[in-house]
Amino acid sequence: MRIVILISGRGSNMKNLVEAYYDDESPAEVIKIISNNPDAEGLEIANQYHIPAVIIDHTKFDSRFDFEEALHAEIIKDKPDYICLAGFMRILSPLFVQKWPKQIINIHPSLLPAYPGLDTHKRVLEAGEIVTGCTVHFVDEGVDTGEIIIQKQVPILPKDTEETLADRVLTNEHLLYPHALRIIKQEFIFRNITIRPNE
Ligand code: GRF
Repeated sequence: MRIVILISGRGSNMKNLVEAYYDDESPAEVIKIISNNPDAEGLEIANQYHIPAVIIDHTKFDSRFDFEEALHAEIIKDKPDYICLAGFMRILSPLFVQKWPKQIINIHPSLLPAYPGLDTHKRVLEAGEIVTGCTVHFVDEGVDTGEIIIQKQVPILPKDTEETLADRVLTNEHLLYPHALRIIKQEFIFRNITIRPNE
């Protein structure tokens, strides 16, 4: 199973998926990293692991449509099985999402459908929640609304700040994303078995 990862920043989930490939259970081969941000720290990590990295800077395009056309053209070159979003900070339009039905996967730092969107940890703490978590889901036309693949609960401690909570959730994200890809890989293998009843 081959994946392209889209990032915008730090790239810790990306690094983790790259490293998971070298583990015994190797869920997916990372064939390319694409960043919309030329300054993303994750680009340096891609370099260290000798993974082809491409910058498609959204600010250089006149419209979201043009940016997404360029993004699609770059991704299709490698014919990946899945596109994994890992801290990719652009909302993908329905037009783009429809080109990759059930092939775009995202990780989100809350127990969806609760707390979609940005600033999740701040909102979770303000609401006085005692548990939060992270979710890996397919991307559909909405924001963080796609079919959930797997979730993991994370406790909130009384003295938590946004930073301590974000760290604890991130540690769990690093467990969850490779696990989600292992689940998807099982389905992927099954889907690609050709059944020839007459043989
Ligand atoms: C993660 O918390 C992820 O859930 C969210 O953005 C953050 C990206 O972090 N979508 P990193 O770039 O993978 O370190």
